[in-house]
Amino acid sequence: MSSAKAIVIAFVTVFLADGLLLPPKARANPDAVETGRLLAILLDAGRVTIGANQSLINDPEKGNKGFTPEVFEKQVIAKFTERANVDLVNLKNEKVPDLAKKLLPALIEAEKQVVANNQIVINKQGVGFKGFIPATFGTQAASKFRDKTGVYLKQTMNPPRNPKNTPDEFELKVLKAFADPSYPRQGEKIVSETVDGGKALRVMLPLFYLKGCLSCHGEPKGEKDISGYMKEGGKEGDLGGAISVKIPLK
Ligand code: HEC
Repeated sequence: MSSAKAIVIAFVTVFLADGLLLPPKARANPDAVETGRLLAILLDAGRVTIGANQSLINDPEKGNKGFTPEVFEKQVIAKFTERANVDLVNLKNEKVPDLAKKLLPALIEAEKQVVANNQIVINKQGVGFKGFIPATFGTQAASKFRDKTGVYLKQTMNPPRNPKNTPDEFELKVLKAFADPSYPRQGEKIVSETVDGGKALRVMLPLFYLKGCLSCHGEPKGEKDISGYMKEGGKEGDLGGAISVKIPLK
């Protein structure tokens, strides 16, 4: 092939990859995609923070755990900065979309409120497992955030343990793609799609099982886990679910 031809093909490929040849409506709104991605990571960072404190929370000897909303906030901000490379403390000066500057603090607030509302549970002495785990935290924080902002946020899986997390049609389709062994397990690769005739943008972040998930979601399938649900028989690296965001577009 002539080098001129190769250059033309390279240009066309780049334009296609950028979506410039697509009609405007089908072109994803990059600010909304980034906002959705950051919200999904922040909800998961909250889940991971609860997971990192699980043995403290489950300690039957201790009454006051000192796991206050402020302690949680420090830890979740550190985890989020590590994963998203965005400093939530200096959000004003960070290079993120204006919409994210509005919504990320609302999600932090919702997450802190969940930790505040569960202080009595967390600080209960004489009880080991208290049912306050990443998933219950995630369900409650997402619901608080939705109530406050009107922005759709949830954790989902097929089949779900909690019926509130039941996937809709779009989520079912994306969960299937995530579950495929060829889908990248590393790099927090999201899927995004403009829907409702260009009125909304959907973003999903996959969650893959790590070793720590398997005491509840692992083998043997059908056996009860500590929370009373049946284990799914999952293995490390299998799809554990996803975080789903839907952002209204103007
Ligand atoms: C202590 C047991 C336990 C561990 C450990 C655990 N989960 Fe779960 N998970 C649950 C329970 C219980 C629910 C249902 C919570 C509810 O009622 O909302 C759940 C729900 C979920 C959901 C929401 C969808 C649904 O089925 O309702 C996702 C996604 C999920 N877990 C992924 C994970 C991943 C990924 C890990 C590891 C990083 C993990 N879980 C670790 C017990 C656990």
